Amino acid sequence: MDIKKIQNLKNQAISSILEAKSDEELEELRVAYLGRKGEMTQLLKEIPSLSKSERKEIGGIANDAKKAIEQALVDAQRAEKTRKIDIDKEWIDVTAPGIQPPLGHFHPLTQILDEITDIFKQIGYQVAEGPEIETDYYNFEALNFLKDHPARDTQMTLYLDTKGTKIPPGEILLRTHTSAMQGRVMEKTEPPIRAVVPGKCYRYEQVDASHGFEFWQVEGFAIDKNITFTDLLGTIDYVLKQLMGEKTKIKFACTFFPFVEPGVDTYIECTLCQGKGCAFCKKIGWSEILPAGMIHPNVLKACKIDPQKYTGFAFAIGLSRVVSLKYNIHDLRLLVTPDLRILNQF
Ligand code: DAH
Repeated sequence: MDIKKIQNLKNQAISSILEAKSDEELEELRVAYLGRKGEMTQLLKEIPSLSKSERKEIGGIANDAKKAIEQALVDAQRAEKTRKIDIDKEWIDVTAPGIQPPLGHFHPLTQILDEITDIFKQIGYQVAEGPEIETDYYNFEALNFLKDHPARDTQMTLYLDTKGTKIPPGEILLRTHTSAMQGRVMEKTEPPIRAVVPGKCYRYEQVDASHGFEFWQVEGFAIDKNITFTDLLGTIDYVLKQLMGEKTKIKFACTFFPFVEPGVDTYIECTLCQGKGCAFCKKIGWSEILPAGMIHPNVLKACKIDPQKYTGFAFAIGLSRVVSLKYNIHDLRLLVTPDLRILNQF
């Protein structure tokens, strides 16, 4: 027996093992080389008949060769196993329908808010935001609500406790309307101004189906040379039709707010009863949706804008009113409860 024969047999066995493509092939090779009648086994059987000196050298080499073949088989079997697992893992049924991930969405109030601000952005209005904790000055004083003006009573104001500070009581409050931002914007901006201010407002209200102690408003105003009452009515007409639909019926009525003159209330035909009269519209068939007016000269003056040079109009949209009328929701409280059965309908 010569050493070369052993080496050749080992090389041949290992290369066949490396080329094998399945467990079955590997098993056949194991039998062919290492089985009872396998070539390597046969060869090893010849070793005892060798001379003592040959036995030591050749025996060692033959044993190493056997071990190398065994190791090659173990490695190949392991590789085959992982290959199979990978195939199982990577197998995909390309015909199976996809899994729809659950998608979140914006709250209905946020959706309406975005819709309203988008309508205004398209006609050149900027969006401004301001503090919910406000001073008496911006919430009332600058808006021509003098200290003892009875109109302050309509605003059911929540005041912050200023005990222990230098601020006199009654100076800091939760803003009752986003009109409070008129002064802040006017002081910082040279006319022409066109701005909308979305935001949360707070009042000391008894909560019921149509009132909340916190609510969203979008205040808007435009100040420029030669702005007239007609511009105001035209803007309201355009915006409400964009928001509520081209066929929306609109009417105006006189009203009073200290910071506008004249003041106007805008009504749309009640969408809940199509003008027939229901609890929501207090049986009159029309729903109040947007108060507005021409900005009072005193407000312009307080905010350092010359009323001889400039005029302007202002308006406010109550968000929950729009949502009620648009989506037929009779109880506003439904919009502020985190009940997914309701919110998922939008
Ligand atoms: N700020 C008023 C409120 O919430 C609403 C309002 C009325 C705003 C007339 C205006 C306006 O800009 O012109 O009670």
